[in-house]
Formats: sequence, structure tokens, C-alpha cells
Amino acid sequence: MCPKLSRVVVLLLLLHLVVKISSKFEFTNVECISLDKTFDDFEYCFLKSVNRTYKYLSLKVNLFKTPITKVKVNVALFKRLNGYRPFMYNITVDACRFLKNTNSNPLAMYFWEFFKPYSNMNHTCPFDHDLILDKLAVSFVNNRVTTVLPFPEGAYMLETHWMAYDIDRAVVKIYGTLS
Ligand SMILES: *[C@@H]1O[C@H](CO)[C@@H](O)[C@H](O)[C@H]1NC(C)=O
Ligand SMILES: *[C@@H]1O[C@H](CO)[C@@H](O)[C@H](O)[C@H]1NC(C)=O
Ligand SMILES: *[C@@H]1O[C@H](CO)[C@@H](O)[C@H](O)[C@H]1NC(C)=O
Repeated sequence: MCPKLSRVVVLLLLLHLVVKISSKFEFTNVECISLDKTFDDFEYCFLKSVNRTYKYLSLKVNLFKTPITKVKVNVALFKRLNGYRPFMYNITVDACRFLKNTNSNPLAMYFWEFFKPYSNMNHTCPFDHDLILDKLAVSFVNNRVTTVLPFPEGAYMLETHWMAYDIDRAVVKIYGTLS
């Protein structure tokens, strides 16, 4: 191979390496929808950019019929290619049973650990207070989706349905890109 061409090859390899290493998650949107306003409603639900590196998601849901003793959560991941399509994960977890022993379900644990350090939900049932997700940092999510269990690049949406007594009460959709 001529030296010029090999330099181009090396450059391309380096670029490829840089692209791989700089793989980065960003939040793009969040939507919180109460499906039964006599049961729950969102006090707030937003993304905030403090500066270039510190961005976070916060939400608070008020519960009107406490204590709640039966909770199920459905978590489904979507990836965008001509609209959002189901991608790899779709699980429904009995949250009250899961919270008694979070080691019982490794996949649920993987998703739970995105929120646990930032939420006031890490206790066993019943739930007798408003639920808060306080400043879930993009850097924390970034670390989990690029190193703990790497995902391919793309635009994603995590859709979660919150069911109490087997009735769907709220939907939270978190949008993000991995580039
Ligand atoms: C971004 O804001 C956070 C929180 O106020 C601060 O700790 C951090 O140093 C800031 N980073 C930059 C690059 O300004
Ligand atoms: C997830 O699975 C449930 C039960 O099989 C199904 O009803 C639901 O439509 C699925 N959701 C998605 C996004 O595929
Ligand atoms: C919940 O999380 C907080 C903060 O991380 C921790 O101090 C507390 O011990 C946890 N509670 C349970 C029941 O795990």
C-alpha cells in the first residue's frame, strides 16, 4: 500500500475510534400523562439544561387515593426508524413483589437502577406519598447506556405505564438519542 493511502486508512481508523468512544446519550423530550385525574396527576414533568454537561429530568406525581397496595409497571423500549417501533424490551413487573426482593428479576433491576438513586420509591408497598424523580442526571443515564449495557446508536423512547389495581393510571415517555 502506498504511504499516502495507508495514512488515510489510519485516519479513518482513528476517526472510527473517536466516534465509538464519544458515544453519548442526550435527553430529547419527556411526556407525562395522567390517565385518571381522580387517581393521580403530575405536578411537574420536565427536562432542564443547567449547562453543557449538567442536564436532568425531574417529575412529581400526586397520588389522591393512598395508600396504594397493588402496583404494576410496564416498561417498553422503542427505537425510531420510520416512527417508533418496539425494540428488544417489553416487560411488566409486579412492583410490590419486585421491591421486596429486587434481585428476583435482573431485567427489571436493570431498568429500576436508572431511577432508584433519584427517586423516593425505593421502599416496599404500600405507597402513601407523592412520587418524585428528582434530577435524574443525563451523565448517569449516559454511563449506564454506554458502559453497563451498551446500546446501538439511535433515537429511543422508553414508555412506562403505571397501573394500580390493574388499571392503567399514568404514562411516562422518555425520549433520548444515543450518538
Ligand atoms: C454545570 O453545573 C453544575 C451544577 O451547577 C456544576 O457543578 C458544574 O461545574 C457545571 N459545569 C460546567 C462545565 O459549567
Ligand atoms: C408489550 O407486551 C404486552 C403483553 O404481551 C402487550 O399487550 C403490549 O402491546 C406490548 N407493548 C409493546 C410496546 O409492544
Ligand atoms: C432508598 O435510597 C436512599 C438513598 O439512596 C437510601 O438512603 C435508603 O436506605 C434506601 N431505602 C431502601 C429501603 O432501600
